[in-house]
Amino acid sequence: MTGEVLCRLADLDATGAKEIVLERNGARLPVFVAKGESRIFGYVNSCPHARLPLNWREDAFFDVSRTYLFCANHGAHFALDTGLCLRGPCKGQSLTPFSIHVIGDVVIEGESNAQ
Ligand code: FES
Repeated sequence: MTGEVLCRLADLDATGAKEIVLERNGARLPVFVAKGESRIFGYVNSCPHARLPLNWREDAFFDVSRTYLFCANHGAHFALDTGLCLRGPCKGQSLTPFSIHVIGDVVIEGESNAQ
């Protein structure tokens, strides 16, 4: 199933990531997309430690090395490709993946219909 357009690839240039707040069944669903070397990843913006948003600043989801996803609340570091917490108070727990795909220069919610 293909969902709505989340952002353009160019929106990831400044910080490597972009937060998007969706509405699902009348409730807010904050998600973010983050750019790796060869892929874009999507996660729900909720830290498994205390269920807070990871970012304190707009679109700031990476640590200073820009290698790991980072929770600004208590410093958890997550693997970009799996969402697994590698360091911090929720070590061993994972971010909730949010399915995305890229068509051209846009990031779209959901799985690609292309085979
Ligand atoms: S809420 Fe993310 S590390 Fe505590």
